Amino acid sequence: MEMKIDDELEVVSGRTLPEVDLLPQLKEIEGIISRTCEYFFKGNLVMKNSPFKGFILEGPPGTGKTEIIKQVARKLDRRLQTVSFLFVDGASIAAPKWGDAEKKLRSIFRWIKKQSKNSKLLILFDDIESLMLTRGTELAKEWHYSINSILFHEIDKLNPYKVIVCATTNRPDLVDEAIRTRLYPIQAPNLPLDQLMIAVNEILEASNMKNEDKKFVAEKIKEKLKKMENPTIRDARQITVMECIERRLWSV
Ligand SMILES: Nc1ncnc2c1ncn2[C@@H]1O[C@H](COP(=O)(O)OP(=O)(O)OP(=O)(O)O)[C@@H](O)[C@H]1O
Ligand SMILES: [Mg+2]
Repeated sequence: MEMKIDDELEVVSGRTLPEVDLLPQLKEIEGIISRTCEYFFKGNLVMKNSPFKGFILEGPPGTGKTEIIKQVARKLDRRLQTVSFLFVDGASIAAPKWGDAEKKLRSIFRWIKKQSKNSKLLILFDDIESLMLTRGTELAKEWHYSINSILFHEIDKLNPYKVIVCATTNRPDLVDEAIRTRLYPIQAPNLPLDQLMIAVNEILEASNMKNEDKKFVAEKIKEKLKKMENPTIRDARQITVMECIERRLWSV
């Protein structure tokens, strides 16, 4: 099932999202989120005003936050059959025109209300801080306030038996407390070197390259990662690309 809300927003069945084999620590987080969502989607809390609405994943860029939630949507749909996934890119909602973002947000929540009659829904507000960038002017402050109040009032109305909200952010300091306290915060972990090397080796294994070259370049990548402060999975993938290109290992 695919459905367009407007030109930029599309809802898909969770199972259509590409499968990614998450690194062990990320898989653990995915497991916690999936099992909790499943509990609520199965109606295990019978209460009009649920204190649980969803999760917010916080952590530096490239730590796998978005990917974790996508894998949650994929797993839930495979287990429960009708779980739709709505990806809302914070930056695309924060339109430059005054009033546009509010209109869009309201239409999203109107749509959610209708949609949740047919299937369970997992929404991801990706990079949610970009919706709330505080700007200097008084007008901007007002705008920020109204976006926020739409968000938290609408989140309050959601029933997690039908709809669960997830958000990601690499700037939790910019996300209003009103939102942060409505969602359960989870910190994306700094991954240890051996886990990052799993992601590196996955790329090298998939490459047509001599085994000795794979071993050699893996060592070089490891050395580079060791020198970095808290390297992320995105760093590991990027350094792998750089090393493979610069050493002419990805060349015919
Ligand atoms: N376990 C994994 N194995 C391989 N690739 C992964 C894994 N987890 C994430 N990735 C990839 O690593 C990259 C970074 O992950 P992701 O985009 O989820 O990070 P993020 O924390 O959301 O970053 P940002 O804050 O910039 O949005 C993506 O290309 C993603 O597909
Ligand atoms: Mg992301």
